[in-house]
Amino acid sequence: MAYLVNGNDIFKAARENHYAVGAYNTNNLEWTRALLRGAKETRTPLLIQVSTGAAKYMGGYKTVKDLVLNEMDNMDIDVPVILNLDHGDYESAKECIALGYSSVMFDGHNLPTDENLAKTKEIVKLAHERGISVEAEIGKIGENQGADGGELASVEDAKTFVAAGVDKLACGIGNIHGVYPEGWKGLNFDRLKEIAEAVPGEPLVLHGGSGIPQDQIEKAIKLGIAKINIHTELCQAAMEAINEHKDEPFLAVERAVRQAVKERAMYKIKLFGDDGRADE
Ligand code: G3H
Ligand code: ZN
Repeated sequence: MAYLVNGNDIFKAARENHYAVGAYNTNNLEWTRALLRGAKETRTPLLIQVSTGAAKYMGGYKTVKDLVLNEMDNMDIDVPVILNLDHGDYESAKECIALGYSSVMFDGHNLPTDENLAKTKEIVKLAHERGISVEAEIGKIGENQGADGGELASVEDAKTFVAAGVDKLACGIGNIHGVYPEGWKGLNFDRLKEIAEAVPGEPLVLHGGSGIPQDQIEKAIKLGIAKINIHTELCQAAMEAINEHKDEPFLAVERAVRQAVKERAMYKIKLFGDDGRADE
């Protein structure tokens, strides 16, 4: 029977050996199957994640977990799979811990740092009692508000949150969710380097991974990024398939979307260097 892993060893190995494991958002059955198939074909450990909005759309966190596990069985998935709550608030993180997700992101970046830290500690305690991995966010990932990116994460916060027990740390380093705007200044490698040196061995997470030029991806991985989140590029691939096949029968369009999402994920997997890592 299918089971989930928390991925802690996988991400630590990624940081140590300078590659990254992609984290891909799912929005429905088609994407879930596409991502599982892409991981199986490339022999890659898969982190599949769901946002609070997508989970609501899909029928709730339990529906998502059941879907992933059922499809793992149906498709004979034999690579490690991590199911992560993406950008969870305090309540959704607790719900996913109780449901048996294998990883949760508690995103308290909108809270004052003290409160973010206190709530992160509570989530860490609840999650670790059940062997579940925790990701936290410091600084602010940009939201397409301009070319500057969000607020840079501080080195002090990085040390504090890692000392609080978080297993993966998402840092604002000039990265932005969605499509990168004209004139984007790029990732702040000086800050990434400082953070990476302050928390050796800790897997660092790059949100807003879609559309970042490959030379910057490679440099970020070299410096300590071990998890790269991708959603927008999957949406773009799906939309391209819909436009290209729009005059075909509905199921042919669905099939084309599934194929496009799978191919985009496989393309990213190769760029991040995690293909074949499931068998190591
Ligand atoms: O948490 C999800 C991501 O950070 C995805 O970012 O939509 O820019 O690829 P993206
Ligand atoms: Zn994100």
